[in-house]
Amino acid sequence: MKKILFVGAEAMPFAATGGLGDVLGSLPAAIRKKGGKDVDVRVVLPLYGAMGKTWRDQLEQVAEFRVNLAWRNQYCGVKSLVKDGVTFYFIDNDYYFNRPSLYGNFDDGERYAYFCKAALEMMPQIDWYPDVLHAHDWQAALSVVYLNTRYRNLPAYEHMKSVFTIHNIEYQGKYDMSILSDVFELGVEHTSLMRYDDCLNLMKAAIVCADTVTTVSPRYAEEIKTAEYAHRLNFVLEQNSYKLRGILNGIDYDYYNPAKDTGLVSTFDARRLSGKAKDKEAMQAEACLPLRADVPVLAVISRLAAHKGLDLISEIADKLVAENDVQLIVLGKGEERFERFFADLAARYPDKVAALLTYDRDLAKRIYAATDIFLMPSKSEPCGLSQMIASRYGAVPVVRETGGLYDSIKPYWEKDGEMLGNGFTFAGYSGAELHERTCAAIDLYKQTAKWKKLVAKVMRTDFSWSASAAKYLEMYDELK
Ligand code: GLC
Repeated sequence: MKKILFVGAEAMPFAATGGLGDVLGSLPAAIRKKGGKDVDVRVVLPLYGAMGKTWRDQLEQVAEFRVNLAWRNQYCGVKSLVKDGVTFYFIDNDYYFNRPSLYGNFDDGERYAYFCKAALEMMPQIDWYPDVLHAHDWQAALSVVYLNTRYRNLPAYEHMKSVFTIHNIEYQGKYDMSILSDVFELGVEHTSLMRYDDCLNLMKAAIVCADTVTTVSPRYAEEIKTAEYAHRLNFVLEQNSYKLRGILNGIDYDYYNPAKDTGLVSTFDARRLSGKAKDKEAMQAEACLPLRADVPVLAVISRLAAHKGLDLISEIADKLVAENDVQLIVLGKGEERFERFFADLAARYPDKVAALLTYDRDLAKRIYAATDIFLMPSKSEPCGLSQMIASRYGAVPVVRETGGLYDSIKPYWEKDGEMLGNGFTFAGYSGAELHERTCAAIDLYKQTAKWKKLVAKVMRTDFSWSASAAKYLEMYDELK
């Protein structure tokens, strides 16, 4: 039996702020389902103060010990629960993790160094050693580094393999070289491993140490070898390209399922779209927009940040709503300039625009269900899950051809009476191209029969974890 341990900073439904949490919350169960009795997948993450009582009440204490980190000596509890056949371990230390937010603390470097060390120290305590340590993003990078630099000489860790997955290369975990030994407990002999651009760079070190490096789409695996996308790590990825591969994310098909979603006014599927019309009407009422079945509802559901393409959307939004009979719903929080822009746009077009400047997962699902055209023109997108969720709920995506958006959405066109593609796409990072493709989608919406056919096709595109879980299993098998 193959034993895999996922190490990461967040997982749905316990504690999550973004896509990483979605993936760590659903991929392990998908791998377990695909691999059956041949695979034992477990996950370790911090026990955050933010974790809800329902889950907290189900935790069982499985170990208690102390972790040394340089001159520090800290308490470490390990609690666990089993969900969908996957054992989740939670590293319990109130001082580091019982804080109002998951990240953004001055001592994040120290918090995740402690977490990574605890993940390795936990193994003898629970008497379970994985064959593969699979670490995700910079917060887990040190688990791979510590394995190579500090644990390899111990027999139980000698043959352990490691995988490091990059969910977003923008966040690398960069620190001043002066804290190498005081915080990260690494001696001067590791200076060249840890250093990049005169900084201590945790992601770079994990890329160098890991047996295999993956990222969350094949296209992004190519992009991060170039200066345009790599946030300066392109040289490291080029040098290590022999062990780099991209595996496209999936989404949780049980959690995102319009045919069974109890949060919707009406459920629906690709064969029965009448329910979607009811959800649209209900959302128009909820967002205080006119109840009109004939206008397309456009939506943006995103962190309001420039790299998600919000600068392009704000560049064209005025013209788009002024010149077309459409409604636009924006859901998300983020940069103040965008929040102000959409609040102002909604004030100027109260019959056309609703700006919901918040984040709420249930509300997001109701909006996906109500949406006809989903806008996601990201500047870069390692994978992106929203275009997949939108597709599942029958909202046709308009995306820029980058990263996972390129891999998951192919351009709609018709050839010899056959409908190809599953969305609208454009290549250049330009407002004009986004505007042109969005208008093309609006035009097609008016051709009802064709539109319905496209919606059904989009809904049937397979974005479940099934194919990708098989690819992960294959990769683990190759790591002999
Ligand atoms: C990050 C990326 C996003 C990806 C997610 C899960 O949030 O920005 O594109 O879908 O991780 O891998």
